[in-house]
Amino acid sequence: MNLKKSFIPVAMITLLILSCNNQSSDKKAARIVVDKNDTLVVAEGVSSKGIGRFKDVPLTHPLDISMVEKGKTIFDAKCSACHKLTSEKLIGPGWKGVTDRHTPEWIMNFITNTEVMLDKDLAAQAEIVNCLVRMPNQDLTDDQARQILEFQRQNDGKE
Ligand code: HEC
Repeated sequence: MNLKKSFIPVAMITLLILSCNNQSSDKKAARIVVDKNDTLVVAEGVSSKGIGRFKDVPLTHPLDISMVEKGKTIFDAKCSACHKLTSEKLIGPGWKGVTDRHTPEWIMNFITNTEVMLDKDLAAQAEIVNCLVRMPNQDLTDDQARQILEFQRQNDGKE
């Protein structure tokens, strides 16, 4: 299984961010580490599976190509306005390496439960790369979220 987070410090900058909206009392500062391309490398204070209904997402080896293709169609239509497939930031973080930074459960919970994750999950808060835009919920079904995950796995070179 390749679910272990690798917290490798290729970091150049470490900063403490206080989240933009500080009305919630249990809010703690999250430590985020970004590399020279402004790509998130480490988010500490993390619940590795995130918050939502996905507790255990089985992965297929090899990749499910039909899911990859459906995931790409969704990406083109609903995600590519804000996300690149490289590590470069657009409105949101680039997707390169996202399946190494997060568990499958975290990714699917984030996609389907975006508001709650942004409010409560420290790793998601650490990704609020700036305070101008919060990722809007994209209203994907569970199947579509799984297809996106498969597409991201392919983009990360998983087999
Ligand atoms: C309007 C811009 C926008 C759109 C459209 C958008 N996102 Fe995002 N996304 C963001 C932002 C901004 C973040 C960083 C968290 C935040 O600040 O809300 C993010 C973060 C993410 C993350 C975590 C990334 C990481 O590197 O850890 C995932 C996964 C994600 N988005 C998936 C999606 C999917 C899937 C879609 C399409 C169905 C999508 N996003 C569409 C703006 C967007």
